[in-house]
Amino acid sequence: MKLTSKSATLIAPVALIFALTATPAVAASSPKSGIVAAYTLVVPSSTAKSHLQARAVIPNGISCPRVKMTYSSGKKSEAAMTMRVPGATTGPAFAALRACQANLPSGLSYASVGAIDVPAKFQSKFDKIAVFGDTGCRVTAKQVQDCNTPAAWPLARNAQSVAAAKPDVIFFTGDFFYREAACPADKLAFCGASPAPAIPPAAGQKFAPISDTDYGWVADTLIPMAPAFAAAPILVTRGNHESCFRGGNGWMMMFEIKLKADSCAPTAAGASAPNNIAPTYSVDFPIASGRKLRAIMVDSNAGSNSGITPAWQALQKPAYEQANKLASTQKGIEPWLITHRPMFGIDDVNQFDKPDPSATPPDPGELNWTSIDQTGAALGLTSRFNLMLASHVHVAQVVQMPGQPAQVIFGNGGSVPDSTNPADYATPAYGPLNTPAGQPIDPAYPPINQLPSYVWTKIKYGHAIFTPSAKVGQWSISQRDTAGKQFAACTALGKKFTCK
Ligand SMILES: [Fe+2]
Ligand SMILES: [Fe+2]
Repeated sequence: MKLTSKSATLIAPVALIFALTATPAVAASSPKSGIVAAYTLVVPSSTAKSHLQARAVIPNGISCPRVKMTYSSGKKSEAAMTMRVPGATTGPAFAALRACQANLPSGLSYASVGAIDVPAKFQSKFDKIAVFGDTGCRVTAKQVQDCNTPAAWPLARNAQSVAAAKPDVIFFTGDFFYREAACPADKLAFCGASPAPAIPPAAGQKFAPISDTDYGWVADTLIPMAPAFAAAPILVTRGNHESCFRGGNGWMMMFEIKLKADSCAPTAAGASAPNNIAPTYSVDFPIASGRKLRAIMVDSNAGSNSGITPAWQALQKPAYEQANKLASTQKGIEPWLITHRPMFGIDDVNQFDKPDPSATPPDPGELNWTSIDQTGAALGLTSRFNLMLASHVHVAQVVQMPGQPAQVIFGNGGSVPDSTNPADYATPAYGPLNTPAGQPIDPAYPPINQLPSYVWTKIKYGHAIFTPSAKVGQWSISQRDTAGKQFAACTALGKKFTCK
């Protein structure tokens, strides 16, 4: 892979980290800063008035770097960063890395963290928005992606093409972390170098209390995403792969903005991980005179693909009530819901989750309609949005339910699709919250007895570039492959979204 000079600068310090921890295969380098990665998160104005917060990931044991800044006026300034520390009960899983944060002021033209340049501007007018999600390389006991072949795990290429498009901002729709198991002995050619979880799952269990490690995050995110991190500030969504028992510890330390860095640590070493949700928030992006995109962010990390979980509904439903309040109908505001799990997503029919009649209520197993827990929690609370952006299904997809904002899915960022056969994503002949037999999945949640008016699915890795059109509520969307070549042109107008 050809790297830009910026991304090469970002990656070089990683070699030092590996060298420090006595991994013999990687030569030591002498970077100026010793920083593993740096990037700029988009945050709500309640966190930083500028909407920007710089983050740095550093080796454990050194101090946080200072942020160096230049204002548009030419004035120069420096600021300290504060450290984000994982919970002590994560033990050796996060022994090597720490993260640092500092809010950036408004009016900057340039910022750097150590030797790494970070995006410094929240534009006064956003003309180009890159969107992608579902990016890590899948390593589980059941399924192994070829992490060692760029064509089979194309995240770095995709991130480089996102950077080449020079977006004003990047919307990441969730699911960074996929290295949840040790590489199976018969798959070393695919994932032999993949960092394994520090604590393996107990016998018969799918997940350990902590599935992620610092090195897993370096491999899955910090190295391959570096070109995108250098290109633009990033608005990040927490996926189900960032639930506390999966990639949650790395997420909390490096990417979460509302919860503390140790929010996913087990209450005691070896104990089960907490189940939590961050508060809903929104960020307004000026598009043109009198026009603002309002991105409303809901944490939908947990919940069931196939059923209604009462305990999760109690956490999730208030998040959508808050999102509905933020979805202003005020003139000039275009509200989009951004959440990892789709309200209306059509997944591979041959998914892993099997029916469980002994559950209360009975779990019908994984159906074509996915993330049923989200559909239930947001029922009746989605009508104010123009669009709903998600990922979770590892394809590019549009599902238009009558009377609803279009559901647009950007799950094709690099993680392997559950199926590459288009027939497996067939449009269900029954509405959401129904079983295939047309019965309510849960009697407390009235099914939507309508079929989609439009469905478009493309199984192809890549990303999307949104550009506002002249009319209010109108956008043109270029769906691009990992080389940046357009494979579909889409149009959004109000609540409608079509592709060809
Ligand atoms: Fe995913
Ligand atoms: Fe997901």
